[in-house]
Amino acid sequence: MKILVWDLPTRLFHWLFAASFVVAYLSAGEDNWLDVHVFSGYLMLVLLGFRLVWGFVGGRYARFSSFRFSLGEGLGYLKQVLAGSARRHLGHNPAGSWAVYLLLGLAFLAGSSGLVTLAGQEGQGPLAAWVPYASGEVFKEAHEAVVNAMLAMVILHLAGVALESWRHRENLPRAMLSGSKAGAPEAAAPSSRRFSALFLVAAIVAGGLWYFGGAAVTARAHDAGYKINRSIDPRETPVRITATPYWKGKHEYIPASVWHSPRVGSKANCVACHQNAERGLFVGAAIPTDVTAKLAMR
Ligand code: HEC
Repeated sequence: MKILVWDLPTRLFHWLFAASFVVAYLSAGEDNWLDVHVFSGYLMLVLLGFRLVWGFVGGRYARFSSFRFSLGEGLGYLKQVLAGSARRHLGHNPAGSWAVYLLLGLAFLAGSSGLVTLAGQEGQGPLAAWVPYASGEVFKEAHEAVVNAMLAMVILHLAGVALESWRHRENLPRAMLSGSKAGAPEAAAPSSRRFSALFLVAAIVAGGLWYFGGAAVTARAHDAGYKINRSIDPRETPVRITATPYWKGKHEYIPASVWHSPRVGSKANCVACHQNAERGLFVGAAIPTDVTAKLAMR
């Protein structure tokens, strides 16, 4: 018969966590989407916190104690899956358990490195006062590496779910939606915990309203002066704008031949590429087409 396995908060967590990853991934690297990107990162961290608590007070199959498998057991189970001898588990199987642990750990690293990057690069978020521009740059690299590891883990998880669904002839994604699976009545989780689910949803909605209602991070893409300033070591007094780390970072991929071309001539000739430079706008720069054509760039 069909019995309850995944309580409602566990299911909500699962799908919201997946959604926060997808949204964060798709909104990455775009100044215009920074507020959405940061929100999905916060959401991921909040969900992570919830899941850690739920692992102790949640329903029968949501508790960490119900899927406490060693790494050896996880790897052993993977081998059995490949050999076609893996036993069906009502809750998380040993390999799936490790997917859960690793995804939660990576989410923590992704979220926290994101917060440091946000503080360093944009001077915003809870850590803004503590992170200088240069560390923001370093953490951005780390953030990206962690997220790629997380993406790899997501793909492995999806492959595992597909394989297990097929081998045991049961639709695991649907079970994560409905909460129920075929099993003996005495194995059922006692309650779907609707009240806790309601609390989780209310907390997220309240957080969303607070964030988008004014606390949202805004990209300071147009605020070049602000970023240039922040990128300067406070102990130094740079003489030229082209000597600031921010300026160098934005222009490092431009080859020397462009700077030396007659149309540009010098790094100080901002207007050559920034057509609106005289109005103080530096977005949407373009290296003059006659220069790019001659150099066969892009
Ligand atoms: C050879 C062409 C060229 C010259 C000259 C040049 N830039 Fe740029 N600049 C670029 C390109 C290309 C970008 C990258 C635009 C992007 O990332 O979309 C850029 C980016 C920038 C940005 C970042 C804009 C953003 O929103 O990311 C600032 C600020 C900037 N330049 C300021 C300057 C200043 C100030 C000068 C003059 C001292 C200058 N640039 C000279 C080509 C140039």
